[in-house]
Amino acid sequence: MAGGTRQLTVELGERSYPILIGSGLLAGTGALFAERGFPVKAPILLVTDAAVAHLYADTVVSSLQASGYSVTQTVVPSGETSKSLSVFDGLIEAALEAGLDRKSTVIALGGGVVGDLAGFVAATYMRGVRFVQIPTTILAHDSSVGGKVAVNHRLAKNIIGAFYQPEFVMYDLDTLRSLPPREVRAGLSEVIKHGLIWNADFVRWCDEHAGKLLALDPEALGYALYEGCKVKAIVVSKDERENDLRAILNLGHTIGHALEAVAGYGELLHGEAIAIGMVGSARLAARFGYDKGIALETERIFRKFGLPVRIPSGCDPDAIMRAMQHDKKFSEGQMVFVVPTSIGSVEIRNDVPSAWVREIVKDLREETGEE
Ligand code: NAD
Ligand code: GLY
Repeated sequence: MAGGTRQLTVELGERSYPILIGSGLLAGTGALFAERGFPVKAPILLVTDAAVAHLYADTVVSSLQASGYSVTQTVVPSGETSKSLSVFDGLIEAALEAGLDRKSTVIALGGGVVGDLAGFVAATYMRGVRFVQIPTTILAHDSSVGGKVAVNHRLAKNIIGAFYQPEFVMYDLDTLRSLPPREVRAGLSEVIKHGLIWNADFVRWCDEHAGKLLALDPEALGYALYEGCKVKAIVVSKDERENDLRAILNLGHTIGHALEAVAGYGELLHGEAIAIGMVGSARLAARFGYDKGIALETERIFRKFGLPVRIPSGCDPDAIMRAMQHDKKFSEGQMVFVVPTSIGSVEIRNDVPSAWVREIVKDLREETGEE
């Protein structure tokens, strides 16, 4: 393994797995597969997207081939629209044509879209084959860890899916250098989210290191991704299937997922929608009597990172309210919200009056014109 690699473990008994974060890791993929006992005779399906394929797929494929593995590469279009049943269907066909068997592995090489999609293929092909995550976006520090895999339905995001853990996550920081700046900002939104729900010191650290993070300083980025993954690993280890605690990871998601669906998948990036959602949740906190400063501070930090903090004017508040009712977080007739109680801690509320949500959505949209 390359020097300076950070390592964490998601503790899930026999299904525990490592997260490796470092530089120069892609070229060692084959060696890592061999070391971890992946069978050489079972064909591998590498799923990637159009933007990532020409940048990084050859390194991964060559490394696997040099270790004796046979790999078929499949490239899906970039972007959220690939998280669909029709693209999923094409990947199942590719797996069959490549002769994948029960001992085979599906590798996701890409951002959260590829990770969620390829993970759903791994979870369902022959009732489940081996799965490896090689994330290439900042946002994917969240999506590659924890085993939530899914595709979207036109009415609701991530509504067709499973819990299916990878066998390891290999995060090569070098891949992040080619990310477009907008994707960098959107990914950092989820990094900050992990601080907002769990660790006020980490939020302060992100605030102080905003310039370095936005400039992709390797040391700052490696530390931030390690801390973000650590929060995720701790929470998932305690509550893999979101019976209770894991729901805190959904800070900003009730409004955020609805915005993604209403704006049109891909129009508003996931991390951007979640940033707006987190501002909405912080405003809800004030309604419950928590410090109004939480909302101001949340908004300030997202602005500092160049993230949107208002609902785009094209998103109709009624449509947003309807979309929230299709969300998985709608339970027993109630919208479920993660609400910050201070910077660095949250609580889960299923007693949020829908009138409050409507007012906050309306305000966040109407204030757009004042930007
Ligand atoms: P993404 O996968 O669409 O990647 C963003 C864009 O960056 C794409 O255009 C992609 O082609 C491009 N790209 C990826 N890596 C690149 C690189 N290294 N260099 C240049 N371009 C690159 O989006 P994302 O933000 O990574 O992930 C968003 C998805 O993740 C959403 O679907 C969201 O629902 C999901 N998600 C899942 C979980 C989970 O727990 N499973 C958690 C958070 C988000
Ligand atoms: N992104 C929320 C979760 O993984 O649970």
